[in-house]
Amino acid sequence: MIKKFRKRHVVPYMFIAVFLLLLYIFLRQDRKADFEARCGDVWMCRLIKGLEDRIAELQGRLDSLKGSRKDVGANQQQIQEDLNKRPVNPRFGEPRAPEAGGAAESVDVVGLTLPILLMACDRKEVSKALDSLLQYNPDLRRFPIIVSQDCGHEPTAKIIAKYTNVRHIKHVNNTAIVPQKKGQNVGYYKISRHYRWALTQVFDVYNYEAVIIVEDDLEVSPDFFEYFLATYPLLKDDPTLFCVSAWNDNGKSNFIDLNQPEMLYRTDFFPGLGWMLTKSTFKQLQPKWPAAYWDDWVREPGQMGQGAKSCIRPEISRTSTFGKKGVSNGQFFNEHLKFINHATTDVHFTQLDLSYLFKNNFDSFMDYRLNSVPVISLRDLKNRITKENEVKVIYKNNKEFQSHAKAVGIMSDLKSGIPRTAYRGVVTFVYMGIRVYFVPAKPWAGYQA
Ligand SMILES: *[C@@H]1O[C@H](CO)[C@@H](O)[C@H](O)[C@H]1NC(C)=O
Repeated sequence: MIKKFRKRHVVPYMFIAVFLLLLYIFLRQDRKADFEARCGDVWMCRLIKGLEDRIAELQGRLDSLKGSRKDVGANQQQIQEDLNKRPVNPRFGEPRAPEAGGAAESVDVVGLTLPILLMACDRKEVSKALDSLLQYNPDLRRFPIIVSQDCGHEPTAKIIAKYTNVRHIKHVNNTAIVPQKKGQNVGYYKISRHYRWALTQVFDVYNYEAVIIVEDDLEVSPDFFEYFLATYPLLKDDPTLFCVSAWNDNGKSNFIDLNQPEMLYRTDFFPGLGWMLTKSTFKQLQPKWPAAYWDDWVREPGQMGQGAKSCIRPEISRTSTFGKKGVSNGQFFNEHLKFINHATTDVHFTQLDLSYLFKNNFDSFMDYRLNSVPVISLRDLKNRITKENEVKVIYKNNKEFQSHAKAVGIMSDLKSGIPRTAYRGVVTFVYMGIRVYFVPAKPWAGYQA
């Protein structure tokens, strides 16, 4: 029965089906052509077409943004591992042959002892900081750890005492402090007094040539020690350097280039948070060390102020802070600091040529770099209307810098007129996958407090 039906009906049905299909295709093309022909004249049609094009364009941009967001969120460790395998050239633009002064892997660091000074008070989490330092310390004879404790807090003292491989020193001056100005926090006076005392121990009593200063709420990266060892010759030989810091103030993962764990910069802003100081610089500071707010004082003219001296800072922070409930503002921690993660990389800094960081080399490197980068407006940057990988955005004054910074989300505060991470007024970071430079308008009259 079924067989019979098939034989008799399949052929005519097929003809009908093919006919209908051809008719459908013909009508559809005709309608489309008709619509397009008429649409040329009707403003409404043009409007709709324009909107359709715009939607398609926006969709494309959204897709590319999603892509770049995914990149940022990609597994940091994996990216870094991959990149560690490739040959590294830290000198990028190579605008000029490096000046005399030598590479960082020089004999300067052979036999150098570089102590770590950990400033402690009454936080029991000091053990977390100590564990981190001990975990990555390649040689305690080369990088001895000194814990300087203020505050006389017994429970914390007991915790530190358990670490028999570190030197535990105690600051015992409890003389009452009367703040110079009403409403000032006595805590900042105590911290400043403790710093002066501890640094005096390091340089005048133990007679070290340089020291790496950390606090009791910091954890460090695996390459923390090698970073400081490799940069010591720069600090020693470049008189325009004040310090080497392990901290990038704009080091949140979305503002940094995870592909460049070896990249270092100069900055006119004192970052602190894991930093190296030489004896000769301390000798200049010692007689005038302030009663309070020592870190802001470091940023003033007379020390680093107005670009007189700079620090080295990494693209990716080599320290992270796990919580401040002490004297300084906990809100600042919650809004910024806790998002800055130290690198898990193990860059062999002592094997890299770091001479691009000497002032003359770095200045010409930056000039060369910035000359070739196109200027765009903040608005185009925000909307990502550019095909460039690197752009500069000009700012006219401190106020405009601050509004630019707020618009993209980087740190907007200035100290003594200097934006965080700025070098000769230039602040660089990554924004939605683009390398951005906020550059002061020319002629630049220097930092204005
Ligand atoms: C103890 O601290 C007070 C106040 O900061 C200071 O004036 C004094 O010189 C200190 N004493 C010693 C022995 O350092």
